[in-house]
Amino acid sequence: MDQNIILFSPLELAGLRLKNRITMAPLFLGYAHADGTVSPLLLDHYRAMAMSGAAMIVVENAAVHPSGLGSPFVLRVDADKYLSGLSTLAKAIQKEGALAVLQINHAGRYAFTPERIAPSPVPTGDAVPRGMTVEEIHLMAEAYASAARRVKEAGFDGVEIHGGTGYLLVQFLSQRTNRRTDAFGGSLENRMRFPLMVVDAVRAAVGPDYPVGYRFLADEWLPEGLHTIETAPLAMELEQRRPAYLSVMAGTYDSFFAPDYLEQEKKEGYMAHFAGAIKAAVPHTPIIAAGRIQTPATAVKILEEGTANLIGLARVLFADPLWVKKAAGIVKESINSCEATCSLCMKRVMSGKPAFCSRWEKTVRDAFLARLNEPGAVENDQD
Ligand SMILES: Cc1cc2nc3c(=O)[nH]c(=O)nc-3n(C[C@H](O)[C@H](O)[C@H](O)COP(=O)(O)O)c2cc1C
Ligand code: SF4
Repeated sequence: MDQNIILFSPLELAGLRLKNRITMAPLFLGYAHADGTVSPLLLDHYRAMAMSGAAMIVVENAAVHPSGLGSPFVLRVDADKYLSGLSTLAKAIQKEGALAVLQINHAGRYAFTPERIAPSPVPTGDAVPRGMTVEEIHLMAEAYASAARRVKEAGFDGVEIHGGTGYLLVQFLSQRTNRRTDAFGGSLENRMRFPLMVVDAVRAAVGPDYPVGYRFLADEWLPEGLHTIETAPLAMELEQRRPAYLSVMAGTYDSFFAPDYLEQEKKEGYMAHFAGAIKAAVPHTPIIAAGRIQTPATAVKILEEGTANLIGLARVLFADPLWVKKAAGIVKESINSCEATCSLCMKRVMSGKPAFCSRWEKTVRDAFLARLNEPGAVENDQD
C-alpha cells in the first residue's frame, strides 16, 4: 500500500471530492434493456463496480437522440421517461460510496439506426450517412443539452460529454469525416464549432457549477486522421469552458481493428502518452488517463510523473473488480489482469450480446449466462 499512496490520495474536482485517484472509464457492455432503459443486470453490474472502491464511476454512453444510438441495448437519455431508471442507477452507485457520472453520446455515422446522420456523407464501410442540415446541427446540440439536464435531474454527480471513439463530435472535428464547406467545416476553427457548441449548450442547461467532463480523443490513430496538433487546440478551447476533467483516449472504429492499433493496444498504459500530451497543453485541467493500466505500479508512475491526475479503468476493472482493494492491500491476492490478446467483451457487444469476461471464474460466467435467461434480467434474447 505505502508505495501506492498517491493512488489513494483524494482530489477535488469541480466541487466534487474524489476519495482516491481511481475512476471507472465508460465501458458499454450491452446490459440495458432493448428499449434503452436500465435493467436489473445493468444495475447489479454498476453496483459491483461502485463497490470496487473506485472514487468515480463513469457510466457507459447513453444516447441523446433516437438517431444517435450507437448499438442495440445502449442506454438512452433522450426523453424524460428514462429519468426514473437513471435515477435508480445513480442512487445505486452513490449508495456504494462512489460518485456517479453518466456519459452522453450521439454515434453519428456509426449509429445503429436505419438512417445515419453525420457532418458529411462519408461512407463507413457498410453505410453512407446523410449529411446534416444546419438546422439539424442546432437541434442535436440542443439534444445534448436536454440529455445533460436529465442527467442532473436524475441525480448523477456529473455528466460526461462523449467526444471520443470517432462518434459525432469527433466526426465534426476530423477532416476525414467532415467535408463541409459551411461554418462547420474547413478550418480547424470551423470543425471545432459543433463540439464547442455542444459544450456551451450543455453548460447553459446544467448551470455554472454542475460538473461537466469530456471524453477527449487525442488522436484517431490513423495516418490521415486527427493528431494532437489539431486536438490540443480543442483542449485549450475546452479548458476555457472549465470542464471538470478531460478523459483522454485515442482511436476510432476506423482504427480499432487495424494491425498497428491492435499491436499498440496490447501494451500496458498504451494511451498514457496521449494523456501526457494533452496535460501539457492544458495544465490547469484535471486529466484522466486510461488504456490497460493493469498494475498499480503503472498507475502510480502515471500520477507521479504528472502525466495525468486520475486513472481510468474500463476492462481492467471489469476483469477484476477487486483491483482497487488489491492495490490498497486490503485483499492480498494478485490482480486478475485483462488479457492483452483477448477482445471477447468487445466482440460480444459488437454482435449485440451482453458481454462477460474471459477471465471470470467458470462458476461466475455460468451464473451470468444462466441469468440472461431469467425473465426481466435483460429483455434480450441472447446468450
Ligand atoms: C467493450 C468496450 C466498450 C466501451 N465503451 C465505451 C463507452 O461507452 N464510452 C467510452 O468513452 N469509451 C468506451 N470504451 C473505451 C474505454 O473507456 C477505455 O478507454 C478503453 O477500453 C481502454 O481502457 P481499458 O484498457 O481499461 O479497457 C469501451 C471499450 C470497450 C472495450
Ligand atoms: S480479458 Fe477479455 S473479456 Fe475480459 S475485460 Fe479483458 S478484453 Fe474484455
